[in-house]
Amino acid sequence: MPNTNLRKEMSPPPGKAPKEIFNRLYGSPYWLVVIITIAVFATECLVMVLLPLFPNLPARAAVLLDSTILILFILPCLNFFLFRPLVLHITERKRAEDALQREHNRIRDILDAMQDGVCIVNQEHEIEYANSALEREFGPVEGRKCHEYLHGSTEPCPCCRYDEVSAGKSVHWERHFRKTGRTYDLCDTPLYKADGTVAKLQIFRDVTERKKAEEELRQSRERLRNLSAHLQAVREEERTAIAREIHDELGQMLATLQLDVSLVAGGLREDQAPLADKVGSMARLIEGTVRTVQRISSELRPVMLDDLGLAAAMEWQAKEFEKKSGIPCEIAISLKGEIFGREVSTAVFRIFQEALTNVLRHAVATRVEASLMEKRGRLELAIRDDGRGISREQLNDPLSLGLVGMRERVAILGGRIKISGSERKGTVVVVRIPVAQQEESHDRHEEDTDRR
Ligand SMILES: Nc1ncnc2c1ncn2[C@@H]1O[C@H](COP(=O)(O)OP(=O)(O)OP(=O)(O)O)[C@@H](O)[C@H]1O
Ligand SMILES: [Mg+2]
Repeated sequence: MPNTNLRKEMSPPPGKAPKEIFNRLYGSPYWLVVIITIAVFATECLVMVLLPLFPNLPARAAVLLDSTILILFILPCLNFFLFRPLVLHITERKRAEDALQREHNRIRDILDAMQDGVCIVNQEHEIEYANSALEREFGPVEGRKCHEYLHGSTEPCPCCRYDEVSAGKSVHWERHFRKTGRTYDLCDTPLYKADGTVAKLQIFRDVTERKKAEEELRQSRERLRNLSAHLQAVREEERTAIAREIHDELGQMLATLQLDVSLVAGGLREDQAPLADKVGSMARLIEGTVRTVQRISSELRPVMLDDLGLAAAMEWQAKEFEKKSGIPCEIAISLKGEIFGREVSTAVFRIFQEALTNVLRHAVATRVEASLMEKRGRLELAIRDDGRGISREQLNDPLSLGLVGMRERVAILGGRIKISGSERKGTVVVVRIPVAQQEESHDRHEEDTDRR
């Protein structure tokens, strides 16, 4: 509470030094005696000056004059010492009350100007105060208890958190109110009163629009994620189909061609050497084409991923990487039998491929270590390199589409991915995908990345 102003209101205004002198005078009865003595002395001096001026004055009249002058002098002193402090005390008190009232009004004005609803509820569930915003939303309180006022129920709400608040805890929660059809973010705080009881200060922040926007955003993300999953699945199916077509059809044709060429070569006479050379180079060309077809087909989608499983495909990929880059790639695989669906195998394999491509393109590494294991119903893939390490900026760059793709693949499967990098230790990518309850799990987890 802004008590500073209240204190300002109560402090004596500048330039009122006489009041301080009075206060000092009132502080000690000694001054009363001194001033009365001076007053008596001054009176007697005055009487002694006045009496010779009236030589024929009777003695009784002289005594009367003496006592009248004495009373006239002493009375103001008595008034000054006995009544003035009382008057000052009352004035001071009045000023303090006015200041308090002004402060009270100011606080009420602030609360009334707030966009959020505010109320104070005591332990009997009575509403001691409700600000204008709350009354605008829920109507006038009219002496109703909080459950009657807010929910129209005769009994206190089962979810009432007054007990926690009275135990000194501040609670933050969210609730939909049927009466207004809106959702509020509630903050309940203990309010310690002068009589020792604890009231509940409740703040209502209307979060309906925010909730709606959040829900729309969630749905939109869900739709995009589903679309992305669908596109990836379609792409993978197309790749598989093309790879098979190339492998089977083209491979078949090339094998037949190879056989025919070798038959032709076998049927040539010795005097047909130039023709034999030509047929030989054709055979070599066909052999090269067969290898190219196999490579293209494997790059599109390794046959072994579907035929031999994830472990075999990853080992093959690690060897291919070594061949292509000259960087040693160690891979440790520990799986309790391959029971993963095509979706999981494809995602893990593609993430592994992308991580290795990144090492080759960006890491300047001298070695790579990878592991794939199944632990407590989760499939864990880790790829470590000893290169220059990915930076936080690169991690958070929305244009890092390779990383975005990895995150999306993991999120679709309800898993988590952690990518971290340091200049001295290189880059680590760790992916965890739940595989035990893969079918039921539709939970979406946020990706978790950091740079150590
Ligand atoms: N292993 C790594 N070591 C060091 N830097 C890396 C590593 N992996 C990724 N990066 C950095 O992170 C950036 C983003 O990687 P990302 O895979 O998203 O994109 P990219 O490889 O550049 O392109 P693409 O979309 O073809 O994958 C890279 O440009 C690179 O600078
Ligand atoms: Mg990349």
